Amino acid sequence: MVRPVGSAAAVTARHYLMCRPTYFAVEYAINPWMDPVAGVDRARAIRQWEGLRDLYRSLGHRVSEIAPIEGLPDMVFAANGALVVDGRVYGARFASAERTPEGPAYLDWFRKAGYTDILDPKHVNEGEGDFITLDDVVLAATGFRTEAAAHQEAERLLGRPVVTLQLVDPRFYHLDTALFALSGEQVAYYPGAFSQGSRRVLRSLFPDALLATEEDAAVLGLNAVCDGRNVVIAAEAAVLADRLRALGFEVHPVELDELRKAGGGAKCCTLELRGAPD
Ligand code: ARG
Repeated sequence: MVRPVGSAAAVTARHYLMCRPTYFAVEYAINPWMDPVAGVDRARAIRQWEGLRDLYRSLGHRVSEIAPIEGLPDMVFAANGALVVDGRVYGARFASAERTPEGPAYLDWFRKAGYTDILDPKHVNEGEGDFITLDDVVLAATGFRTEAAAHQEAERLLGRPVVTLQLVDPRFYHLDTALFALSGEQVAYYPGAFSQGSRRVLRSLFPDALLATEEDAAVLGLNAVCDGRNVVIAAEAAVLADRLRALGFEVHPVELDELRKAGGGAKCCTLELRGAPD
């Protein structure tokens, strides 16, 4: 079992980058969650997003905001904008034409924020959506969006070993829809999202991982954000929330169903900035 965290667990203040869903819409379908005919209630999405941002601040985290760009309705999913480790920025190169302009927009934000160690990538990758950073390894997915060649490109830049995992269920098209970090060395995940081989890899790396049910995965319950003690998670993921509480985590359920209509949850809206610019 996962080691109980208890109230003494060290919570370090995080720095997150977020993008207000000012121009949020579902106008195209690049994952099975998106239905352009059904559309979205943008005002409601904005209220839900503001609730998430304010929750992070109330937990003591710092939130920076990148200005949303008209015509880029998915830009709210900041996790896809880059991968930042030790102040080094691995830029995104989106798989779809619709999101391609977001790559340079996020790179621009990093340049203006003073980051100097920035790589404009050669290979298709969707940032932290497909890369999850732990203390000693970075987990990276391929299958739907990010190319395996990007895993090596990131490894060379970051100087941390990258473990390639294969996603197989189109509902879980990004790694952060199927797995999240509980600490620098422990994860929660839904095995059904991964190939047989990747399940074996996950079992051997994390024999004591917290496993999620399909029901909790299907409400994007694994698209959660954990700071070591607090877990910000989709309100509908009830079983997972109970399992987390039993382990001593503080669970903060959030309503983000309007953003889920585009296939995103709390983590998708959140890009962690690890390490300040040098
Ligand atoms: N509609 C967006 C897409 O398909 C959602 C991205 C969700 N982001 C994430 N990190 N999983 O690209």
